[in-house]
Amino acid sequence: MPDPTPVTSCPMVREPLLSELSGPGRNGLTVPRPFAAGRCADIPAALNPPALPEISEVETVRHYTRLSRLNTGIDQGMYPLGSCTMKYNPRIGEEIASRIADIHPADEAALQPVLAWLLDLKATLEDLCGMDDSCLWPAAGAHGELTGMLVIREALRRRGDDRHKVLIPDTAHGTNSASCTIAGFTSVNVPSGPDGFLKAADLERHLDGDVAALMITNPNTLGIFEQEIDRIASLLHANGSFLYMDGANMNAIMGIARPGDMGVDCMHLNLHKTFGTPHGGGGPGSGPVLVKRGLAPYLPDPRIVRNAPGGIGLVARSPESIGMVHSCLGNVAVLLKAFVYCLSLGPDGLREASIRACLNANYLKERLKKVFDLPYPTPTLHEFVLSDRVQKVAGVTTVDMAKALMEYGFHPPTVYFPLVVPGAIMIEPTESEPVGELARFADAMGDIASRAETSPDLLHAAPRGTPVERIDEVWAARNLVLTWNDLNPSR
Ligand SMILES: Cc1ncc(COP(=O)(O)O)c(C=O)c1O
Repeated sequence: MPDPTPVTSCPMVREPLLSELSGPGRNGLTVPRPFAAGRCADIPAALNPPALPEISEVETVRHYTRLSRLNTGIDQGMYPLGSCTMKYNPRIGEEIASRIADIHPADEAALQPVLAWLLDLKATLEDLCGMDDSCLWPAAGAHGELTGMLVIREALRRRGDDRHKVLIPDTAHGTNSASCTIAGFTSVNVPSGPDGFLKAADLERHLDGDVAALMITNPNTLGIFEQEIDRIASLLHANGSFLYMDGANMNAIMGIARPGDMGVDCMHLNLHKTFGTPHGGGGPGSGPVLVKRGLAPYLPDPRIVRNAPGGIGLVARSPESIGMVHSCLGNVAVLLKAFVYCLSLGPDGLREASIRACLNANYLKERLKKVFDLPYPTPTLHEFVLSDRVQKVAGVTTVDMAKALMEYGFHPPTVYFPLVVPGAIMIEPTESEPVGELARFADAMGDIASRAETSPDLLHAAPRGTPVERIDEVWAARNLVLTWNDLNPSR
């Protein structure tokens, strides 16, 4: 095995820890010391304040500012990560969510306004999706999928119907098969047609008495709205199976089309995609599950009820529920930010956001298909998928072009996904982007396509000038550097 050497030699990456910047007497804040005043004599010594770093306010701010510059984010420029919907996170959401930070979850009186707006959010989401009931607690999209599949499993169990298979189109999101497997089902892949649509006739061939559900991502991961969704729902229902919709791409159709009207029985939303809440390094997110009436009894606890003795209350246990999937109120600050997003935009604004998301994606698609391969020319909504087929002739691959985009100040698009497109470049600009930024991105992609012909070696070496330049990914995978000390062996 080669010697473990740091992944990068860039000095910026060696930002010290706060504890290393600490020095005696450098405090920026003096914490009141009730212990010293003898007011808490019975508190054990072990509960004395911990040894926090001693560092001044300005040094702290500079530390975090330097760290933030090592990364990129939506506040720096367009972040066209397909399927992730990296849209602007409105600051008003942060401001309002910060106001609930002091409410203790066990303080029922203080919780009343929180429960009231959670009920309003729930009703808003149900209305937008055309569903009868919902649970706000799952903490991410995949968590919502798992919850939905557990709800379906419970419904089947209670009707004494032992079904094992869940059908999943090849254009579904990758988490779908993992979620249904964790819920105890076996996933069965159903190929889509050459135009990217799932064909009802192909589905029909897979239907038998062991099919519990179809899990369909709609619009799918090619950005295509499933044309035969009504017929697909009818076929499933006639077979005694459920239609689960991964609604994480709802940002393409909110205010325009409702999954409940298409025959969907159960679905989830990704609030951290569609409703403009931050993704924040893998979380916290929020993946509410919405169901038709027949599945409502099995939704997770607790339930919010309007007419409890003290006002709005929480029912901890309901007889047929699958149980709890998250502590108390889920990621409540994320829920509040999503509610602020809905209220700020209003019904017309939400619809407008979907229209703009589709318009922005189609503007880029029209510009980029002139220089890149567009494997599925089918009309798309909020995202689209290119491939590296043209540039590969000169030896330039998707990874080279994604890395090169960083030199232009853009986060790369999603790459090598969906799997139905070899060398996929999946682009989702979202409705947040002004046309100037879209044009800047299209120009950068065009420039990269030209460099693929004239100077491919420069693209193989990209990115240059970023805090971490091109790394040897195979080396890095085999020599994982997982702790700060590994990166700084001298410390
Ligand atoms: C279509 C789709 N489904 C499911 C998920 C999974 O969501 P999460 O990453 O919040 O678990 C995503 C994530 O972006 C998605 O795009």
